[in-house]
Amino acid sequence: MKIFLDTANLDSIKKFNDMGLLDGITTNPSLMSKEGGNPKSVMGEITQIIQGDVSLEVVSTEYSGMMEEGKRLCEYGDNVVVKVPMTPDGLKACKSFSLDGIPVNVTLIFSANQALLAAKAGAKYVSPFIGRLDDIGQDGMRLIQDIRQIFNNYPEFKTQILVASIRHPVHVVDAAKIGADVVTLPPAVLEKMLQHPLTKIGLENFLADWEKFKEGNPDVSI
Ligand code: E4P
Repeated sequence: MKIFLDTANLDSIKKFNDMGLLDGITTNPSLMSKEGGNPKSVMGEITQIIQGDVSLEVVSTEYSGMMEEGKRLCEYGDNVVVKVPMTPDGLKACKSFSLDGIPVNVTLIFSANQALLAAKAGAKYVSPFIGRLDDIGQDGMRLIQDIRQIFNNYPEFKTQILVASIRHPVHVVDAAKIGADVVTLPPAVLEKMLQHPLTKIGLENFLADWEKFKEGNPDVSI
């Protein structure tokens, strides 16, 4: 399963990329505005830091605007994936970009039918938002199961399931068990995945034992 980071924060991107954890990045207008600064330079930097796919989202809501913006976004790097919303115009743009060989991420997917239609329109990725479904009392992970089953039934669909709106590490394990292709994680969730209290305690004990050993044997080293 690929791991993308769901952020436009350059420090977080550099930090986790240096650990070798990142296969790509997803951004959206909310994440871009949260970082402030000049979005053009932020987008340019992200596409330089990251080798894998970087989803950059259009803000137009009609087809011709999406096409113009998407083409401009592609100029930030060869690894840009144009992110369009799950609307009729978004699907039309998805089809046009796909025919031109430009990869598309269809975002704001909340039903299996929407995922099916985005796949038909040629999307490279569909982004079902599981946390937002959980927030309204629906089972977000059930949607991932349904989409996985549908895509498995029709191997001609090459569209990847990019699980979005992830809220905690259990979402990640569940998505991996189902066989989702990609998870996109807020930095705080990826940070939590690294941690385990027994790892911390275990390391403290190892180092304390080593210090004791050295007290009686000052010349030892590794
Ligand atoms: C996905 O591409 C979106 O950027 C993101 O996962 C949305 O998550 P949220 O529901 O936490 O805003």
